[in-house]
Amino acid sequence: MSLKCAVQLGIPDIIYNHAKPITLSELVKALSIPKIRSPYVYRLMRILVHSGFFAIETIHKHLEEKEKEEEGYMLTPSSRLLLKNNVTNLSPFLLLITDPVVVTPFHFMSTLFQGTSGSLPFEAAHGVNIWDYCVKHPEFGKILNDAMASDAQFVMSVVIQDCKMMFEGTKSLLDVGGGTGTAAKAISEAFPNMKCTVFDLPHVVSNIKGSENIKFVAGDMFESIPSADMIMLKWILHNWSDEECVKILKKCRKAIPSKDKGGKVIIIDIVILAEKGKYEATESQLCFDILMMVNVTGRERTETEWEKLFLEAGFASYKITHVLGLRSIIEVFP
Ligand SMILES: C[S@@+](CC[C@H](N)C(=O)[O-])C[C@H]1O[C@@H](n2cnc3c(N)ncnc32)[C@H](O)[C@@H]1O
Repeated sequence: MSLKCAVQLGIPDIIYNHAKPITLSELVKALSIPKIRSPYVYRLMRILVHSGFFAIETIHKHLEEKEKEEEGYMLTPSSRLLLKNNVTNLSPFLLLITDPVVVTPFHFMSTLFQGTSGSLPFEAAHGVNIWDYCVKHPEFGKILNDAMASDAQFVMSVVIQDCKMMFEGTKSLLDVGGGTGTAAKAISEAFPNMKCTVFDLPHVVSNIKGSENIKFVAGDMFESIPSADMIMLKWILHNWSDEECVKILKKCRKAIPSKDKGGKVIIIDIVILAEKGKYEATESQLCFDILMMVNVTGRERTETEWEKLFLEAGFASYKITHVLGLRSIIEVFP
């Protein structure tokens, strides 16, 4: 919430535009707030420095022939990812996971244990599931889509830089649950000869105009999935229960050709590495698991849990590449 507040106030951009460490009084001035409120700014910055979002540097100043030392706030690699004009600006993602619509269901978490079986905290809080909520509240739908687009921009830049070979030779790609098409756009720019299709619910894609290489198709992945050489599922399966994932994967299996004809499914999702000892991203992975438990029917999975789904859906083999920190890329072959 402190970080959300800093982003709402535009603090990362103020520090960036200052182009050198910014003192507390300079920051208060840039925020155009009364001086009397500077203790709040100090306390907000103190926790964000402690958690690594900002850093402090000593500034040496010459004032009236005297050397004076002051401290100034600076950006860190984490807060650089929140700058408005950066190609990778993850602020929309931060604003989604701290949005009241997403946070309120956490107050209903006990319904999972004590409510009627199958009652989800999100539904207890809002009366409908998250996808129907997006239809009823387009302003929240936009927050979700913008958040996903910002994540897709970030993740796909790494995927395309480090894992280009996974897409080479593919003539057609279908991004299932591809949102507003940011991931497909990144792939299409890297592979101009590939035909890309973004498949998502009608309220997400119906009003988006495609281009020569990117088509938008509205539909429900539980009913039918259009055919393509390669299917991508980025941040889809963790939203769904094992039974629902097997249904989706079976539809994907039907929609792609055999392995020797280039058929494969690419999954970008979390693979929990907790059993492998202390791992930097484990805490975030487990937090995402609880986020899924509270807001959707899904979960985060270990490799063994993933493998079970692939075999049940009729796939023959898979390969996991751990290149994305929190998440991994899983190539699944028929
Ligand atoms: C967590 S978002 C991921 C978006 C995108 N793949 C990304 O990572 O940027 C999940 C997406 O699945 C879509 N979705 C949910 N239910 C669906 C369904 N039954 N059929 C197709 N898409 C669905 C949502 O509209 C949303 O765009």
